[in-house]
Amino acid sequence: MRTVSKLTVVGAGAVGSSVAYAAMIRGAARHIALYDIAPEKTRAEVLDLAHGAKFVGATEISGGSDIAVTADSDVVVITAGAKQKPGQTRIELAATNARIMGSLMEQLLKVSPDAVYVIVSNPCDVLTMLAKEASGLPAERIFASGTTLDSSRLRWEIARRAGVSASSVHAMIVGEHGDTEFPLWSSASIGTVPLLDWTVNGERVFEQSTLDQIAVDVRDAAYAVIQGKGATNYAIGLSSTRIVEAILNDENAIIPVAPVLSGIQGLEGIALSVPCVVNRTGAHPIAETPFSDHERELLHRSAASLSEVAAGLRA
Ligand code: LAC
Repeated sequence: MRTVSKLTVVGAGAVGSSVAYAAMIRGAARHIALYDIAPEKTRAEVLDLAHGAKFVGATEISGGSDIAVTADSDVVVITAGAKQKPGQTRIELAATNARIMGSLMEQLLKVSPDAVYVIVSNPCDVLTMLAKEASGLPAERIFASGTTLDSSRLRWEIARRAGVSASSVHAMIVGEHGDTEFPLWSSASIGTVPLLDWTVNGERVFEQSTLDQIAVDVRDAAYAVIQGKGATNYAIGLSSTRIVEAILNDENAIIPVAPVLSGIQGLEGIALSVPCVVNRTGAHPIAETPFSDHERELLHRSAASLSEVAAGLRA
């Protein structure tokens, strides 16, 4: 039995190299391979990572621009493609990034037929639908990182207002990883306290106007970071690594990722994020997740906007 876990990161840009770096530091996989069609850039990133391997234990780092470097992966994280320019939406990248997805999946699947595939390239939900169609993989084995990162942004916004650790906030963003995403406020809690009941110095801190502001700030967080530094990379590196860990350690961890849904909240054939159990076999949406009527309507609105984009790309 092969016991060495292998993670391949496709794309050696700001996001891909940060995924590899975060995965290396956290010891998420025994072997991390970085693949990109740009040989010099990839070689430089691989060398820079490998030079630090001594400080983090036994991770093997390899990579290059030959697809063979990706062979026999357990998990493949795809970050390749164009990134948002300041002010640009994720959806505006759809046509460009969809073009590379079909042939990329075909090449990757030939050498890693049993891997779980995680799509980080944007718009990640739409690309997941196309990549699933191109690959024929079962829904659980190909999914978008989705709102895993947005949910971390949400917890940070709540935690700093409530004066508690972000890990004690239970709240998720669902839907598109993008402009139609929204928080599941109806089930949000801090410890065991429903979010709306939380007080600081006897005052409720989560009034409707505060909730609305938090939702907007989380939705627009990437725009703010891209405006200032041209890309987001650290937080997506860490959040993608968290997904990789849940897969490789067969954790059954509950994470909002986006497989193509079949039957959840009446949705069929659309990839968007809902809480999923993530383990070695992939991502499994949790059918019991409670949605208020308003939240269900928002989810359907998010689904409609994504299916319109996907239909435009297939046309
Ligand atoms: C972000 C990019 C990864 O939200 O979409 O930071």
